[in-house]
Amino acid sequence: MGIPMVDLKAQYAGLREEILEAIDQALQSMQLFLGPNVQALEDEFARYCGARHGIGVGSGTDALILALQAARIQPGDEVITTPWTFIATLEAIHHLGATPVLVDIDPRTYCLDTQQVAAKITPRTKALIPVHIYGHPADMNPLMELAAEYGLFVLEDAAQAHGAKYRGRTVGSLGHAAAFSFYLSKNLGAYGEAGMVTTDDDEIAQRVRMLRNHGDAARHQHEVIGFNSRLDEVQAAILRVKLKHLPEWIRLRQEHAASYNRNLAAVDVLTPFVATDVEHSFYLYTVRTAKRDRLTARLQEADIAFALHYQRPQYRQPACAHWALRPEDFPQCELASREVISLPMYPELTDQQIAHVCETVAEAVA
Ligand SMILES: Cc1ncc(COP(=O)(O)O)c(C=O)c1O
Repeated sequence: MGIPMVDLKAQYAGLREEILEAIDQALQSMQLFLGPNVQALEDEFARYCGARHGIGVGSGTDALILALQAARIQPGDEVITTPWTFIATLEAIHHLGATPVLVDIDPRTYCLDTQQVAAKITPRTKALIPVHIYGHPADMNPLMELAAEYGLFVLEDAAQAHGAKYRGRTVGSLGHAAAFSFYLSKNLGAYGEAGMVTTDDDEIAQRVRMLRNHGDAARHQHEVIGFNSRLDEVQAAILRVKLKHLPEWIRLRQEHAASYNRNLAAVDVLTPFVATDVEHSFYLYTVRTAKRDRLTARLQEADIAFALHYQRPQYRQPACAHWALRPEDFPQCELASREVISLPMYPELTDQQIAHVCETVAEAVA
């Protein structure tokens, strides 16, 4: 039997009754549009993150776009972020007409290297988007200090990091706002598209609320040009069921990561680094090896899934060619793109499966 990257069938088997009941209740009420489940999920998820507001939107990508628009990012502005992310981070900047200014990563955490940010700030810089990649929070304190000094808006891209902690605080409450994805494979995933913005800022919250619903301030009063990006009631009902299990799922992910680390201690791969005062939520368990080709071939033979995040950093994507970014400016991303490999990670993994993956890795890199 092979081992997948995530096992959503196993998760569903454990939740089936609760989920079907929640969907049935939502459908029986036929309140399918910004109703009680969306409101309750917004409160529950914001509380989970330690933020004052949660605003449910259509996807994580929309959460980024709407938060940037709520912060009045506009054409000509520059937004500093990392190329070591999913393309959505850059798409959001592009859709606002702004320009992404990319900084290389810290090779240990794969998050943007905060030491390099100050040198990239210009009079046009208006925002920073740190990405909590793989579930490891970016080093937020130095970024918030820079933001205070230069008057910048800080948007956490927390799409991969539900439940991760930085100095005792949960991601989603660290910047001026945060964007979450509830894409199906995420630590908290819907059965369709969904996302959320969290923030302590009343004005940002109110603007995102308007923007997600055609700029509606009151019924049929369109204050600004907005979007159709409403989180639907059925997805919210499903997410509310799953949110109750999230702390336990994250605990299991952390346990599995510890088990991987133990099994790989004497194996020639670099296991994930976790900074002091950080709780990694292990959306991905990503190791590093210079023998990646041998490893991928062996995993394929053994029917063990893997993923390469990111084999092609965003500055190498055809879609980003118009920004004329140069790979030589990102030496750490270049190295990492040749060496990283993510191994199966999901709460339902068993110790035997982890041991089997690790034996296979050990054989491949011996
Ligand atoms: C870092 C990051 N940002 C943004 C997104 C976009 O989220 P969505 O797929 O829900 O639009 C994703 C995920 O897929 C992601 O991994």
